[in-house]
Amino acid sequence: MTPVEAPVAPATLDAVAALAELACIGRDDARGGWSRHLLDEADGEMRAWFARTAAALGLAVETDANANQWATWAPDGATGPAVGTGSHLDSVPGGGPLDGPLGVVSALAAVSRLMAEGHAPSRPVRIANFAEEEGARFGVPCLGSQLLAGDIDTHRVRALTDGSGASVAEVLASAGLDPEAIGRDDARLADLALYLELHVEQGRQLAPLGVPVGVATGILAHGRWRVTVTGRGDHAGATELGSRRDPMLVAAAVIRAARNRAAGANPATRARATVGKLQVVPGGSNAIASEVRLWLDARAEHDADVHDLVARILSDAEAVAREEGCEVAVAEESFSTRVEFDATLTDLVDSALGGVPRIPTGAGHDAGILAAHLPTAMMFVRNPDGVSHSPLECASDADIRAGVDALADALRALT
Ligand code: GLV
Ligand code: MN
Ligand code: MN
Ligand code: MN
Repeated sequence: MTPVEAPVAPATLDAVAALAELACIGRDDARGGWSRHLLDEADGEMRAWFARTAAALGLAVETDANANQWATWAPDGATGPAVGTGSHLDSVPGGGPLDGPLGVVSALAAVSRLMAEGHAPSRPVRIANFAEEEGARFGVPCLGSQLLAGDIDTHRVRALTDGSGASVAEVLASAGLDPEAIGRDDARLADLALYLELHVEQGRQLAPLGVPVGVATGILAHGRWRVTVTGRGDHAGATELGSRRDPMLVAAAVIRAARNRAAGANPATRARATVGKLQVVPGGSNAIASEVRLWLDARAEHDADVHDLVARILSDAEAVAREEGCEVAVAEESFSTRVEFDATLTDLVDSALGGVPRIPTGAGHDAGILAAHLPTAMMFVRNPDGVSHSPLECASDADIRAGVDALADALRALT
């Protein structure tokens, strides 16, 4: 008698264990939390982890011309454009462990679950790790998805530089990618039927509802402006108050106006504005600065609300600049129009999950970029304190697993 071999179930990926593994990569001891920026050492390790882990699950792994990574599950019988899912593995400076990695890890875990249970998908599932989602290295968020979608000028992108002066073109080339090949990728876009991104919740809407997973309605319009204030560098002790041209006073006005103008806007516009990054030149404690660069992040319900908010903030700053004899120059680094996720896809996901809360978000996502090109939806995993872009960002192990269950349910229903 020939012994019957027990079928070997493929190992499933445990999302909590995988996130613990990733938590060892890119720790930022100086800032706290994690710093992983496009194609730096930590991002390289994250990308290597993605390729290794996806390959171990039997997925076909590739990097596209725009530095996005993809892992495809296309067993026999899976035909036509793929169901896309995933997120990003880069971070803000000193960010949390979940913004990005949760969606990538959950996608790998959900696909491994579907494989193990013998699900036969009718179409492929393709998992993305989008490049430079946070824009922390080159200033433009969702760079990989914007390039893929053809939403951004490639000449401009190649010339963007990081804090050390290295350009996107140089960084891509040193990673073995062809900087001339970046840009709209119609074939890859056409090979995606839809995109469903799972993300840690940013803000605190699910906790009071007592539910671990929700779906997104839409994304606030948002953008980033670089404000350069030029004054005159001088001695902190020897310069009379009346003869100073101190750009720090103008920077302070921008920061104060960001709060005051957002607080004073019509509450229905959900306006918010933030200065989270500032560079002072030359940066001596006993010197009046010659120049201050600051980055204004502004968000609100509709595009026009954001433009109105920014105009008000800048006009407050201009008034102080005139008094102080300083010049203000403003450059828009990025703008993302308001996004509504696809209603049909969102309903499908919602019903696969048995009916969950629907919540808006003030955070930008690659799903928001793709929403202009294909049916797109998002799922959020409860964040008990709502904190994100901070080392304090968290979700419970049980909720992380509930997110994987939910994503597996959605992918099962969609394939
Ligand atoms: C990215 O996460 C953003 O919303 O700024
Ligand atoms: Mn983020
Ligand atoms: Mn994110
Ligand atoms: Mn984001």
